[in-house]
Amino acid sequence: MSHQSRWRIRSVSRADWPRLEGLLSDEDLPVQGVQAGASGQFLVASDAAGTIAGLVGLEIHGGHGLLRSLVVAAPARGCGLGGTLVRAVEALAREREIDRLFLLTTTAAGYFERRGYVRVERHALPGPIRRSEEFTQLCPASAVAMASPVIDAGTVPSRP
Ligand SMILES: CC(C)(COP(=O)(O)OP(=O)(O)OC[C@H]1O[C@@H](n2cnc3c(N)ncnc32)[C@H](O)[C@@H]1OP(=O)(O)O)[C@@H](O)C(=O)NCCC(=O)NCCS
Repeated sequence: MSHQSRWRIRSVSRADWPRLEGLLSDEDLPVQGVQAGASGQFLVASDAAGTIAGLVGLEIHGGHGLLRSLVVAAPARGCGLGGTLVRAVEALAREREIDRLFLLTTTAAGYFERRGYVRVERHALPGPIRRSEEFTQLCPASAVAMASPVIDAGTVPSRP
C-alpha cells in the first residue's frame, strides 16, 4: 500500500474540532478561523481507523487563494502526507478557478520552496490577501510570504 493511499482526504466536520485545535496549537499555528469557515474550506487527512493526522485550509479573499493551517501530526511526518495535503489544497483551488496560492510561514519556507513556491514581498501580494485576518492579525510580521507556482491541469491533474 502506498503512503498516500493510507489517508482519506475529506472536508473538515464540526466533530473534528478538538483534535484539530490540538494539532494546530501544538505547532503554535493560529486556530482562529478554522472552525468558523466563513471564507475558508479545510481538508483533513484521516487513516483507516478515522484518526486525523493532518489538516490544510484554503481561504478565498477577493478571488485570491490563501493556503493556511498546513499541519501533519508528528508521528505521521516524513511519509508524504504533507505533500498530499498541499496537492489536495492546490486541486481544491483549481476547482475554484484559482491559479495561484499565497501563504505565510514562520517555519516551513524551505518545505514550500522544495514544492516550487517562491518568497514574495508582502507589498507585492494582492490587496485582499494582505487585508486577510491571517496577514493582519494571526501571523507575526516576521513570517515569510510565499506564492505557489501557477496551478493548472499540468501541475494538479485532479483532487486526490
Ligand atoms: C511541514 C509539514 C506539514 C510537513 O509534513 P510531512 O508530512 O512531514 O511532509 P512530507 O512527508 O511531504 O515531506 C517531508 C520532507 O519535507 C522536509 N520538511 C519537513 N518540514 C520541513 C520544514 N519545516 N522545512 C523544510 N523542510 C521540511 C522533511 O525533512 C522531508 O524531507 P525528505 O523528503 O528529504 O526526507 C510538517 O512537518 C508539519 O506539520 N510541521 C509543523 C507545522 C508547520 O510548520 N506547518 C507549516 C505552516 S505554513
